[in-house]
Formats: sequence, structure tokens, C-alpha cells
Amino acid sequence: MSISIPQLPKGTRDFYPEAERIQNYIFDTWRSVAESFAYEEYEGPMFEHLELYTGKSGEEIVSQLYNFKDKGDREIALRPEMTPTLARLVIQKARELKKPFKWFSMPRLFRYEKAQKGRLREFFQLNMDIIGTESIYAEADLMAAIATMLRKFGLKDGEFAIGVSSRKLLATYLEEIGAPNPALVYPVLDRRLKIGPEAFAKALADAGLSEDQVKKLDDFMSCKSIEEVKTKVHSENATAALAEIEDLFATLTAAGYGECVNLDLSIVRGLAYYTGIVFEVFDKGKSMRAIAGGGRYDSLTEKLGGERIPGVGFGMGDVVLADLLAEHNLLPSPKQSVDFYIASFTNDMKKVFETAQAFRSASTGKPFSVAHPLSAMKMGKQLDQANYQGAKIVVYVDGSKASAGEFEYKDMRTGEMFVGNMDAIVKRL
Ligand code: HAM
Repeated sequence: MSISIPQLPKGTRDFYPEAERIQNYIFDTWRSVAESFAYEEYEGPMFEHLELYTGKSGEEIVSQLYNFKDKGDREIALRPEMTPTLARLVIQKARELKKPFKWFSMPRLFRYEKAQKGRLREFFQLNMDIIGTESIYAEADLMAAIATMLRKFGLKDGEFAIGVSSRKLLATYLEEIGAPNPALVYPVLDRRLKIGPEAFAKALADAGLSEDQVKKLDDFMSCKSIEEVKTKVHSENATAALAEIEDLFATLTAAGYGECVNLDLSIVRGLAYYTGIVFEVFDKGKSMRAIAGGGRYDSLTEKLGGERIPGVGFGMGDVVLADLLAEHNLLPSPKQSVDFYIASFTNDMKKVFETAQAFRSASTGKPFSVAHPLSAMKMGKQLDQANYQGAKIVVYVDGSKASAGEFEYKDMRTGEMFVGNMDAIVKRL
């Protein structure tokens, strides 16, 4: 009888060390930029009660839930996004938390999606959120952080764009043209560019819009400038929403991010809880799926049974981001690179262990990474290992040219041989 070998579940990834190195580069960059903007890190459980999502996140995401009954007959779902968990955390300590505050997290998320380029069933997502203020400068802070982050990854302005829209503006326009229930219309608008003009018109007709209303809406969503929008909307609310966007752009321009943002009213977002500004980040030419998406959600805590606490934030997935960085050749080498390899001509393992330990603790900052053979082997084999592990310097514990307190060593980057004490070797690094 043949036994089949275990298979990787569809839409998931294994992270062998080379892949994990890239992954950690992404996480380290996310964390360091988030911290440079003074966001604090938080975490939550990987699964929640199913009802945290149903009715609040929006149909699409609910249809993609990994949910099950646990042994206590409770309905549980693996988290498909972080925002409801964040809202739960906020509600639980609504009084104690000093607002506004800025938090970030890098959760592992699960969505039962059709696995395809840019979309997996298990992925990581940087979340940055600001809770407790309705100020548009919270949006400005988040967008500045996104642009800083993408620049830090090596992307240039013009290679990505943060497209900005406003549900408030859309809602007032829907009202102006007398369209029915926006909650029914948003999910259709979100799919506008994906489904094509005919299917779009049909879906809107099904939601109760007339042909004239569909045409007006389509024109509105194609607007490219604030000036153009001003010719189409006239209500007080719409004017206020537009002034907010103008202030946002002016602030970002003053801070040097003007090239990174643009008005894009075709962005609606699929999630149900957004109430104000919504935004999505795309590569130039939108050839890939969104790198990140987010928006303002001022009534989510209320919908979940707490008091009303405004919030705004975004999620940036690791999958599209890594694809984009790979396309621009911006990912670091996935190869291991240790600082020292400790070798011995006589296979003196006690001396090897002792010296390795001394080198590890010789750093005043991050400990040096030190490798060595784990069994007796010829010098040629040890050098092979040193090469494979990307050692910068090979230290020989028993080289005949070294006197007491010194070592023969080889700089693998130049091939040069030296003799010197530990201080000299460390300096050479
Ligand atoms: P989202 O648009 O559902 O928003 O996801 C944000 C980003 O996560 C996407 O732009 C994409 O990069 C990544 N992403 C989503 N689904 C997948 C998938 N199946 N595979 C790989 N990457 C994926 C949210 O999740 C909101 N909770 C974001 C947010 C935070 N809004 C406010 N705060």
C-alpha cells in the first residue's frame, strides 16, 4: 500500500529559512516605520466569536470566514481581519485608554478566498490605526506612514499611489441624485472596475437605481480632480467633505508626500463599517491588487455594543507587497550571512566551542552570529560550510602562525589571511 506524503493546504505557505528571512525583512521594516511614527504594538487572539464579524464586516468577508463550532458548542471564527478585534479591545477599556492613541499590529489572518495571485487563504497584514479622534490629520498621519514605509522598502514616488475617496462624499451624492439605500449600493460600487460597465449597470439596476442615476454615478466616480467634483455636488455636507480632502492633500503636500496621494472616487471599499475617508494603495498602473486599504470607521464600536469612539486605519498585506518588491528587485538576499565561522585543523571541539562563545559575547550591540562544525571534518569541508553559511570571517582556533591570545583568520569577502587577537578580528568585521 502506498502512503501519500502530507500536502500543504491550498492558499497557505511554508516559510523555509530563505523565505522566512524575506518575511522578517518585511516585518522589521513595518515595525521600525510604525515605531518611528510613535505607534504602539498590540496583539489579540487568532480566533474570535463568530458574531464579532457577522453583520459588521460586510458580506464578502463573512462569506470567506473559516468558522467552526468548538468543543463547548461555541461558534468560532479564525480572524479574517484585525479591525473588529481592535474595536473589541477599545470597547473593553474605553474609559482607561487615553485618547487619541496610535496602535499597530502584524496579525496572521485567514480568509477562505479563491487562491490566486496576491490573494491567499493565510497571510500577514500590518494594521495601523488611530483611535479617538475625528480629525483629518489622523488620516494624514497614516498616509504619511504608508508613503514613508514604501519609500523605505525602496519604491520611488510614482511607483505607488494612495488613492483617496470619501464615503461621506459618496453618500451625499447618492442622496443628491435620489439613489436608494447606500448600504446596498456600496458593495456594487466597490466592484465597479472589476465587473465591467454592463454588469455594473445591471447590479445597480437590481439595487433600484434608474439608468440616469447609474450614468450620473459612473461620471461622478470617474472624476479626477476636486475642481471637477465641485461642479457636481452642491450640498453643505458634500462641500464639507471636499474641504476635508483638500486640507488632507495640502497637509501631505507640505510634509513632502504630495506626489504619493491622489483623488480616486472609484474607491469605495468592500467592508461595511467605513463612514468617511476611504483609501487604497496601488502600484503604478494598478497592475496588481491593492497593496493596502483602509478608512475611517467612526461607528464600529457602537455597532459592537460599546460607546461611539471614532477610528481610522489601514491594513497592508504581505503578499502583494512582496510581489511588488520582487518585481522591482528590492528584496534582500535570502541567503544566510553569519559573522564568524570558527574552524579547527585538529578538530579540537572544546576549543571551537570555547572560542565561538567568546566571539558571541564580544559584541556590545546585537550579538554576533557565530557558526562552527558540529563534528570532526577536514578543513576543506569546514570552509565549504563557512561559505554556504555566508561567513564574513573564518577564525582558525589552532593555526600554526598564531601566538598565544591570537588567531589566524581569513576575510572571506576578500580572501585575505591575517593574524590577530579578538579585538582586531572584530574590528575587521
Ligand atoms: P482589506 O482591504 O480587506 O482591509 O485588506 C487590506 C489589505 O490586506 C489588502 O489591500 C491586501 O493587501 C491584504 N489582503 C486582504 N486579503 C488578502 C488575502 N486573501 N491574501 C493576501 N492579502 C490580502 C482590511 O482588512 C481592513 N480591516 C483594514 C483596516 C484597518 N481598516 C481600518 N483599519
